[in-house]
Amino acid sequence: MENARRQFLQQSIGSLGVLSTSTLFDSARKESLIAEIHQAIRSNPGPNDEEFWGLIRQAYTVSPQLINLNNGGVSPQPESVQNAMIRFYQMANEGPSYYMWQVLDQGREPLRRRLANLAGCDPEEIAINRNASEALETAIYGIPLEKGDEVVLCKQDYPNMINAWKQREKREGIVLKWADHQLPTEDTARLVKGYTDLFTRKTKVVHITHVINWNGQVLPAKAISIEAAKRDIRVVIDGAHSFAHLEYNIPDLGGDYFGTSLHKWLSAPFGSGLLWVKKSRIEETWPLFANPDPATPDIRKFEALGTRSFPIEHAIGEAIDFQELIGNKRKQERLWYLKNYWSTRAIDIPGVSIGTPVSPDWSGAIALLQVDGKEPSEVSQALWRDYKIHTVAIVWEEIKGVRITPHVYTSLRDLDLLVKAIRQIASA
Ligand SMILES: Cc1ncc(COP(=O)(O)O)c(C=O)c1O
Repeated sequence: MENARRQFLQQSIGSLGVLSTSTLFDSARKESLIAEIHQAIRSNPGPNDEEFWGLIRQAYTVSPQLINLNNGGVSPQPESVQNAMIRFYQMANEGPSYYMWQVLDQGREPLRRRLANLAGCDPEEIAINRNASEALETAIYGIPLEKGDEVVLCKQDYPNMINAWKQREKREGIVLKWADHQLPTEDTARLVKGYTDLFTRKTKVVHITHVINWNGQVLPAKAISIEAAKRDIRVVIDGAHSFAHLEYNIPDLGGDYFGTSLHKWLSAPFGSGLLWVKKSRIEETWPLFANPDPATPDIRKFEALGTRSFPIEHAIGEAIDFQELIGNKRKQERLWYLKNYWSTRAIDIPGVSIGTPVSPDWSGAIALLQVDGKEPSEVSQALWRDYKIHTVAIVWEEIKGVRITPHVYTSLRDLDLLVKAIRQIASA
């Protein structure tokens, strides 16, 4: 299917004579690197096989001037994804309404199927959109609720989602109940209780952030969903930081709605995302952008966005190729290995602690660095000023520290420098 689509697009481009020498050179270079990665995969490389991960690094266009350890904010794309986006963009500009709506958009249903395959769900439950905020706000505003209905969420959720729920509270008189987690923790019962203690007969929705962006804490989404289902409470899952990072199938989390960005861990083009809605909930959910039949059970009703970037959407396919080439499990193991590589070394430095759980069930690539007696901004500024290591300072509720997020292209040399920098900052 994918080959047929590629062939079709290549023929369309080729017949117009736009395949320049540099495009040919780029694709030859890309193909030889991808062939090398394919070859290396045969020996089943593990999380500490630096030769293999060095090849993965080459597939990205990593800056030699800085060390980017804020991949939690947004990921860069492998060169193959960037090139696909540019190729589609140039193609679209040859005749936008023809190439976008009649040529590129032929790839929409195959893309939906590929995303569903990656997410382990039915394609009829996947809507393609622009980011996690759009996906989750579609769910948040689309769930039919009445004045007095209660929604349980937590103080550590993402601000856009908190604000969307607060807007419904102001406009419609729904009632928000707030869990307040003490993080980090590896205590499932305590985390689940944080929500169930707030459930009442009026509770209609629980909102769960699968991986807390502030410190990388994984929440037991499935265990919370099981409790919600017993009480007929709908579950909205914010998977912005877990999709293509941790290995799972979306329906197995037990939610009713799931939203994620694809420009985070999938390394798809900036401004790409997906919404998953459980089949039985599609009909009752209002689309955010109006549709001729808002009560249709067709998931495509959530895609009535008007004109948007088709080149961005369709280059998602290339990011899926890259994800599948590495494999979800291998990627998750490497990300966890990288987090542990620097954090287990840093924790031995006097005055340094890590505000993130350690075990693989409770964390992935993201970890929070804490240095006694220093404000997070002071530490992140020193990392940047003296080492050109880019991170982000976090201060949210009780969570304080510097968020360090490597990605599959991060080298151990970069992390060694990070540990050296932490040692110097902690002793200053
Ligand atoms: C937990 C969480 N949810 C949602 C979002 C929103 O993502 P986007 O800005 O791509 O819509 C983010 C972004 O960092 C996030 O960390």
